[in-house]
Amino acid sequence: MLDKLKSIREQTLKQLESVADAGALRQIESATVGKKGEVTTILRTVGELPLSERPAVGRLANEIRQELEAAIAAREELIEAQALAQSLEEGALDVTLPGRPVAVGRLHPATQMLRQVYAIWADMGFQVYRSRDVEEDEINFTLLNMPPHHPARDMWDTFHTTTEGVILRTHTSPGQIRAMREYAPEPIRVILPGMCYRYEQITARHEMQFNQVEGLAVGRNIRMTDLKGTMAEFARRMYGEHLQVRFRCSHFPFTEPSMEVDAECALCEGKGCSVCKYTGWLEIGGAGMVHPVVLQNGGYDPRVFSGFAFGLGTERIMMVKHDIQDIRAFWANDLRFLEQF
Ligand code: FA5
Repeated sequence: MLDKLKSIREQTLKQLESVADAGALRQIESATVGKKGEVTTILRTVGELPLSERPAVGRLANEIRQELEAAIAAREELIEAQALAQSLEEGALDVTLPGRPVAVGRLHPATQMLRQVYAIWADMGFQVYRSRDVEEDEINFTLLNMPPHHPARDMWDTFHTTTEGVILRTHTSPGQIRAMREYAPEPIRVILPGMCYRYEQITARHEMQFNQVEGLAVGRNIRMTDLKGTMAEFARRMYGEHLQVRFRCSHFPFTEPSMEVDAECALCEGKGCSVCKYTGWLEIGGAGMVHPVVLQNGGYDPRVFSGFAFGLGTERIMMVKHDIQDIRAFWANDLRFLEQF
């Protein structure tokens, strides 16, 4: 029995020398000094031995149990220390490495353009007036001199809501009525920016949602020359100092007379290129003198007051300035496009 105990001791100490993980250590422990381990079993059965052998076997078994328990505890400490050292090494930080730059967000190019436009008009005394995207049919059309069934309504393909008479605004012009009704009879100088929605075929130059900036000036003695001078000044500040501007006759039901404003193509300086379709001119937007019916609907006496209005498509302005070939890039959420601005 004494020899058996000695051999358990030798064997276990040898195994402990090479054990490297906590699981294997637990196994060795339970096979030797655990509840059902060999040493424990021997200790438990000492009473069954002949009387003469009992003291020596009991003493040796106790000694070996203490020795093995101490050796297992020492090994456990070593394994834990090694695991800690390894995890520290794997998770080590090199504080001398240069930092990774944090991705910084920026404004969407459409918003950047709007802010540039606001700044130009602010210099000329125009305040921003916010109107609503979801609009009443009456204000989007009827009060702008387009009663129901008027053929001019066909110029704007409209998104209707499930509520009768409520639509998504097709242009920023209904904001004219809202601003006039708020300020009448005081003079007005406002711009009305925002999204417009049209149920139309999407192409490289047409989106179904796009930003417009409307302008409205109402007061006494406002003339066509004021409109022309103001638009020319805007074009110069937006596209360049020496740019020519031209005015073409047009028709809008809410202005009379009406016109389209073109600026000399800034890319080819009027010589003709693919962006201006070889005409040398680019459309800036529609404009005109506010129609007397619209002034009246806004609460102004057209015999006393006059005014001018214009509507600019700001994504189109951005396309010209940055030679963007396809308007769909604005809302396609492709970071390769957006991060260029
Ligand atoms: C209008 O919307 C008039 N309300 C403008 C106006 C205001 C005239 C005040 C007179 C007085 P028009 O439909 O042409 O007009 O649109 C004006 C501008 O919006 C266009 O010149 C263009 O730059 C832009 N635009 C129109 N449709 C689209 C579209 N589908 N996608 C992108 N931009 C568009």
